[in-house]
Amino acid sequence: MSKAGRLVVLVSGSGTNLQALLDASADPSYGARVVAVGADREGIEGLARATRANIPTFVEKVGDYPTRAEWDAAIAARIAAYEPDLVVSAGFMKILGTPTLDAFPVLNTHPALLPSFPGAHGVRDALAHGVKVTGCTVMLADEGVDTGPIVAQAAVPVQPDDDEAVLHERIKVVERRLLVETVGRMAREGWTVSGRTVRIGNHTGGETT
Ligand code: GAR
Repeated sequence: MSKAGRLVVLVSGSGTNLQALLDASADPSYGARVVAVGADREGIEGLARATRANIPTFVEKVGDYPTRAEWDAAIAARIAAYEPDLVVSAGFMKILGTPTLDAFPVLNTHPALLPSFPGAHGVRDALAHGVKVTGCTVMLADEGVDTGPIVAQAAVPVQPDDDEAVLHERIKVVERRLLVETVGRMAREGWTVSGRTVRIGNHTGGETT
């Protein structure tokens, strides 16, 4: 069974999900702590949040490498230096390559109920489709775009007047809670993956009478 005490969190923007993890891990009983924060761009609030919390940061930009494969290897090496038990892609707008995915479990958070509306515009696509309920998904990343095994989901109703920004903010309130709860449980209880089924905790499958 895998455990998740040391977290490397990857961000590309405002980093409110990162902040929720930083706040939760201030309590040692949470079971996990952020040991480093990585990004694919400079000057973002996510990195500033890490610096204010005295967490080391690193930046690897795709454009700084001749090929995507070289970026994949470079970011995997930066992550590996912090010996994480779990990598959390929290609003990181890049697909990680096999050097990272083969070395570490990667948890990803997405602002829609997968498998509906994967990709970079999950909130916009759900609104455009006219769904009445959307939400957020925490999944283990694989090499696809939001296709990995689902760990946890939560629903958020769509209101008639919602635009993308308003709906996304309402999803993010739920998403932060779900991510913090899921990472904490994975850290404290461990998890197993069987096919597409992720189980947190030590479920033996035995029945009591
Ligand atoms: C979150 O809603 C996250 O699910 C989304 O970006 C936001 C980041 O917010 N990620 C994706 O859409 C990835 N497909 P944050 O920077 O405030 O944590």
